[in-house]
Amino acid sequence: MKDFISLHDITKEELENLLKLALKLKDENKKGIAHPILKGKTLGMIFTKSSTRTRVSFEVGMTQLGGYPLFLSSNDIQLGRGETIHDTAKVLERYLDGIMIRTFAHQDVLDLAHYADIPVINALTDLLHPCQVVADLQTVYEHKGKLEGLKFAYIGDGNNMAHSIMYGCAKASLNCAIATPKDYQCDGEVVENAKADFKASGKELIITEDPIEAIKDADVVYTDTWVSMGQESEKAERQKVFGPYQVNKELFKYAKDDAIFMHCLPAYRGFEVTEEIIDGKNSVIFDEAENRLHAQKAIMATLMG
Ligand code: CP
Ligand code: NVA
Repeated sequence: MKDFISLHDITKEELENLLKLALKLKDENKKGIAHPILKGKTLGMIFTKSSTRTRVSFEVGMTQLGGYPLFLSSNDIQLGRGETIHDTAKVLERYLDGIMIRTFAHQDVLDLAHYADIPVINALTDLLHPCQVVADLQTVYEHKGKLEGLKFAYIGDGNNMAHSIMYGCAKASLNCAIATPKDYQCDGEVVENAKADFKASGKELIITEDPIEAIKDADVVYTDTWVSMGQESEKAERQKVFGPYQVNKELFKYAKDDAIFMHCLPAYRGFEVTEEIIDGKNSVIFDEAENRLHAQKAIMATLMG
C-alpha cells in the first residue's frame, strides 16, 4: 500500500490490519501510552473544501504520532491559482513525508498520487470518502463485536459516502443495502466494481429505490446529507426529492431493535434524519466521529511509518 485512495484498491487483509491497528492505537491513547511512530515526519494537508472532523482529527492524530501536520488551504497555496497537480506533487515530495488531500475531482487525487513519490491519503473527493469508512467499520465493530455477516443499510444520496460504504462493506464481509432516489443513484462504475467485490466476499449487495427494503432487519442504519459540498445550488430541488428517504422513527422501526444509527456528519436535523433518531439511544455518531482520529492514525502509521 503506497497510497490510501479507495477501499476498492486495498485487500481484505490490509483493511483488517488497519482496523486492528486503529483499535490498538485507541486503547493506548485511552491509557495514556505514547506512540511516536511518526516522530520527525511531516504531513501536508491540502484542503479545497471545508472540514471540521477531517482537519482536526488528522492534525491531532499526526501530533499524537510524534509528527508534524501542515495545513495547506488551497486559498493559500499556488494550486488554488492554477499551478498544476504535477508540479505541486513534485515540489511537495521534496519537503514532506506524506500528503492528505480533500478536494472535488477524484482524478486530481489519482494524479497527485501518481506524480508524488510519497504516500497520498484521500480525505474525501466527490467520488469517495474512504477514511470515514475505516472509522465507521471500527465503530460498528466496537458496538456489535463483529463485522462479518451484519446488514449495513445506507439511505439517501448515491454520493461519496454511499460509494465508500459499498466498497468497505464488501471488503469487511458485511451485507450492504443502498436506497437512493432514482435520479440520485450511485455511480455506475463504482457499483460495477462493488458488485465484483461482493461476489468475491460472498456477501449481498442490494441496490434499490425503496428505503424500507434497504433498512429491513438492518444492524446498521446510515445516512448522509442530501446536499454535499459543491451541490449547494441544487439544495431546494434535492430537499423536494429526498423527503421519502428521511431516516425517522417510522422508517427506523423496520431495522433490528438493536440497530445502530450512524452519520458521517455534518448532519442536518429535520432533513436526512430527525432529531429523535440522531439524538436517540441507538445513535453512535460521536463514537464514530472520535474514531476518525484512531482510524486515520492507523492509516498514517501504516503508510508513513
Ligand atoms: N465527516 C467528515 O468528513 O467531516 P468534515 O467534513 O467535518 O471533515
Ligand atoms: N457527502 C458529504 C460528506 C461530508 C463529510 C459531502 O461530500 O459533502
